[in-house]
Parts: sequence; C-alpha cells; structure tokens
Amino acid sequence: MQTAYRTHTCGELTADHAGATVHLAGWVDSARDHGGVIFIDLRDRFGRTQCVFNPDTSAEAHALAETLHGEDVLALEGEVRPRPAEAVNPKIPTGAIEVHVAQATLLAHSEVPPFEVADDVEVGENVRLRYRYIDLRRPAMQRNLLTRAAIVRVMRQTLEAEGFIDIETPLLTKSTPEGARDFLVPSRINPGRFYALPQSPQLFKQILMIAGYDRYYQIAKCLRDEDLRADRQPEFTQLDVEMAFVAEDDVMAATERVVAAVFRQVAGREVPTPFPRLTYAEAMRDYGTDKPDRRFGMLLKDVSEVAKACEFRIFREAVEKGGQVRGLAAPGGKAFSRKEIDDLAAHAAPFGAKGLAWLKCEAEGLAGPIAKFFNEGQLRDLREAMGAAEGDLLLFVADRPAVVAASLDALRAHLGRRLGLVPEDEVNLCWVTEFPLLEWDEETKRHYSMHHPFTSPRPEDMDRLESDPGSVRARAYDLVLNGVELGGGSVRIHRPDVQERVFRLLGIGEEEARQKFGFLLEALRYGAPPHGGIALGLDRFVRLMIGADSIRETMAFPKTQRAQCLMTGAPGPVDDDQLAELHIRLRPEAMQEE
Ligand code: AMO
Ligand code: AMP
Repeated sequence: MQTAYRTHTCGELTADHAGATVHLAGWVDSARDHGGVIFIDLRDRFGRTQCVFNPDTSAEAHALAETLHGEDVLALEGEVRPRPAEAVNPKIPTGAIEVHVAQATLLAHSEVPPFEVADDVEVGENVRLRYRYIDLRRPAMQRNLLTRAAIVRVMRQTLEAEGFIDIETPLLTKSTPEGARDFLVPSRINPGRFYALPQSPQLFKQILMIAGYDRYYQIAKCLRDEDLRADRQPEFTQLDVEMAFVAEDDVMAATERVVAAVFRQVAGREVPTPFPRLTYAEAMRDYGTDKPDRRFGMLLKDVSEVAKACEFRIFREAVEKGGQVRGLAAPGGKAFSRKEIDDLAAHAAPFGAKGLAWLKCEAEGLAGPIAKFFNEGQLRDLREAMGAAEGDLLLFVADRPAVVAASLDALRAHLGRRLGLVPEDEVNLCWVTEFPLLEWDEETKRHYSMHHPFTSPRPEDMDRLESDPGSVRARAYDLVLNGVELGGGSVRIHRPDVQERVFRLLGIGEEEARQKFGFLLEALRYGAPPHGGIALGLDRFVRLMIGADSIRETMAFPKTQRAQCLMTGAPGPVDDDQLAELHIRLRPEAMQEE
C-alpha cells in the first residue's frame, strides 16, 4: 500500500521492522503528553501505530505535535523501535513497536469533531448520519463495510466460477412491480412522461433469459417507495440471479452454494446443505408466519376442536364463525404474575388479538380463570393438544386465522427472547415453499400476487386457476435466516397464454397489460425458455452476519425512517427553472412544505 505519502499503513509495522525508517500517514487518534515526550496514535483504516515525538529526536516535530488535535491528518517519517517491555500492547498487531518521529507534516487540520471516533461513545443516530464521514471512521463501521465487501466478493467469485455472467440493467425504466410504490423520474425530453426506477431487475432478467444469456447475476440497486423500518430502505441492494432451463431445485441448490460459501469464507462457519424446507402451510401451522425463526421450539397448536365444544363463549363463537383457537405453551411461564401476563397480551394486541386467554399447567392439571369453562375430559384434551408440561403457561388467541397467526407469531418471538430460548449464535437457514399464488385483499376486494405477477403457478394446480384461484400454489420459494426473509424467488411463467391468464386473475385488463408489460408478453412469444431465479437482500444478509439491529449499519450512506439523507439533505427543493424544464408545476401543498 506504498504511496507518495507512506511506506507502510498504520496497521502494518511489527517487531520485524525494528530499525527501519518508515513514512506513515493518517489521522491523529489520540495524543498524550508524558512530560516532554508526546505519544500520538496515528490511525487509518488498517490500524493504529504509536508515534513518539521526543524533542531530543526532533525539536521541530515535537513543536508540531504540541499543536495537534484529534482527527488532524498527519504525515511523518521516523524509525521503528521495539517498545519497552512494559509498554507492549498484545491486543493490537502494531503493539510491539513504536515509531520515533524525525519529521512530521500537518496535511489537514480538523475542526473538533461532533463526537469521538471510537466505538463506545454514546451518540444519537441522527448525529452519526449527519456527520457520516466521521461515523464511518469508527472501527465498528469499518468492519461492517469491509464485511459487506467481503460478502459481495465471495458471491461474485462463487457465481463466476459457476458460469454466471454479470449484466447491468437500466435504472431509468418502466414500472417493475414488486408490491411497493414506484419512484418516478420526469423526462425533460418527453414532456409529461416519466421513467420509473426499478423495484427490482425482474423483467429485464427474464428478458435476458429469453435473449439466451443463461445464468445472469447482478449486484443490483433496487428502489421502492415504501414505509421504512429497521429492515427496509428506499434504495437497497440485491444479489439478483436468473437461470434458464431450470426448476425450483436448480435455483435453490445454486443459492445454497453461494450462501454456504459466504458463511465459510467470511465467517469461517459451515452451514449444512441442503437447507431444510417447509411448505408455506406447514410454516403457518407451526409458527404463524412465513418466515419462521426455527432456532427454538414453542410451536403453535390448534385447539379449535376442544374450543368448539367448551363453555367459554369467546372460544366457541370464534370457531362457529369460521375462525380458530390456537395457542402456545411457554415453558416455565407458570411463574408469571397477572401483570406479566397482561404485558404479554399487549404484545399480541397490535396484531388484532382481542385478548389473551391463559391456563397454567399445574401438577394436578390445568388451572386458571377460564378452566371452569371446560370439563375434565376437555382439560385433558387441551393439555394433550398443547403438548404441555408441568410449569408451562398456555396462551390462547381466538379469532380469524390471520389474526391468530400474526398475534401468536409476535407473542412467540417475544417469549423466545424473554425466556432466553433463542440461541443467538445459531445460524438457522430454511426454505419456505409452495406459497399461495395469490393473496385476497378484503379492502379492495381483489387478488394480489403473493410474490409478483410473473411467478408460475404449480402445474398440478393450473386447472383451478379460474375456478378456485385462492387454492393455487406458486412455484415460489423464500430463503429464511433466523426468522428474517433473506430472499425470494420463483420459477417464472414462460408461456404468454399463462401470463395473460394470471394478469386477468389480478384484474389487469388486456389494455393495461399491453401498456404496462406489453414488451414482456411480446418477448414471451419469441421463444422463451423455462426459467427461474431468486434475489437475496444483501443489506439484510450483511446485517445478520454482523449481528446489527438495523440495515442502516450495513450501508455507507443510508436514509432515515423519513427517507432523508441527513448528510446531503436529500431530498431537497429544486429551482423553478429546473421544474419548468421538466414541465412540472408543484401543487400548493407541496410548495408550503418548505
Ligand atoms: P423480493 O421483493 O422478495 O423479490 O426481494 C428480495 C429480497 O430483497 C430484500 N428487500 C429489501 N431489503 C431492504 N430494503 C427493502 N426495502 C427491501 N425490499 C426487499 C429482502 C427480500 O427478500 N424480483 C424478486 C426476486 C425474484 O423473484 O427473483 C424480488 O425482488 O431480503
Ligand atoms: P373477558 O370475558 O373479556 O374478561 O375475557 C376473559 C379472558 O379471555 C381474558 O383473559 C381475555 O384476555 C381473554 N380473551 C378475550 N378475547 C379473547 C380472544 N379473542 N382470544 C383469546 N382470549 C381472549
């Protein structure tokens, strides 16, 4: 890493270099004045080196050192010497030596930074994002970005070795729907027309398969105007993959090879392949979610049979109305107080649960305020259905299946953490398959694609496409890591007639289909091979590997929950002239915003 300014980096020198004259450059990490002799830790992204400014070696360099502050940028020349035995720091690679400075130059002065460049300082995230260049100097952020780069490197190497080719697809394009809103870009040259930024390269990668570029990949920026959370950003990155002449197993196996290589080469961990698979129906039955955290048990159990016959009105009526009663058994939860159980109910409530019924599993049998509504046989059946052991707390939700699933999923996640059941260190990967093709939306009274409109129905379900669309399963699969959806993909529709049928089911009329996806329908008529693929969320992958809470920790320049970049101030206002050029006039409410 030798340059015009240095012979070595700040992380490189060891006892082997003793006696050498070296040039270093970096940031002043800390300065300590030990009665005449000044010690400065010089830092760059490779490490830290202790530099000694002794007036007897160089009065000039020492005089400069007296004026230095944290984050000043310095170049120096000096001699590498072993540290005195008591000063050796075995914790850092350069801890055996120090550089005795003969000459130093201040390359740039730093104002007092808004926070210290150290991992253990308390500083709000908004300040970190506002001064991201300071934040990114912190060792933790540097590790995160280096890990991200290492993950991408292994992904590329693995795919390249398997004959995948990297092809870029456009950012200025037409809508590529993935269930979010589009970001639009007005066209100056075509008044009144807009490009959409791609929510994913989905349509282009399918067209590439039709064009014969079997085995495509791209580290692709995707843009989605959706409500943000810790796991979502308006622009994020996917490892995007598509393959021709494949079925589900081919794509899943290729993905497993990439994921296993990343774990092996970046984290030094072996993850067994093939990853276990469970169907969507099994995941919903056992976990109440399509992204199950399988690092711990506490599976959901259906007690609708017992509930339907008991005297507890809430339970009976829920089942009579076509709903269900399901529950989970929290090990050791018998010790929970009334107040603690009420707190549990508060975790289920946001997902629609109108209450949380409970029973404690005592040596004598099930007990609790609702026990009186069950006869002895029913209590025994309940205990058996729940697989309950003495000391368990049984928790039940009675409602529509969707509400029961979502509430118990949230409750299970909370209890898993609370009871210390989650082995934080475990890497648990699994596939979820056989998703329903469609999802019914009560509000708009229509079907939506569960994955996207280009996903193929399973051949054995095809004849129910029109007669019973809700029962049709898709050739789709999601990859789940520790309860987080890491990626998803599918085998695609490669026949234009099937694609048109699916568009019809989605309420996309012929005219609309032509307007939005005409190019795809047309391309499908010119010899489309069977094809399929997947996209992995890179930011989420990195987050899970580094154990961070938010994907913002994996990105150099992320946006806030309000989709703003606090460093650049984006999104910002634009001049009237610029708007006029784009043929745009703002509505009054947008003008008042400023
Ligand atoms: P999907 O929409 O499931 O599939 O996206 C794939 C993966 O991308 C990640 N992801 C996100 N990460 C951060 N911020 C977001 N806003 C965000 N949205 C999605 C998730 C997700 O699993 N074209 C299809 C893939 C295919 O069928 O091949 C697609 O985009 O980890
Ligand atoms: P109540 O009769 O409303 O006092 O409710 C008796 C118990 O049933 C309380 O513990 C409630 O939390 C619980 N409960 C009420 N509604 C439901 C429901 N839909 N599912 C499960 N438990 C419920």
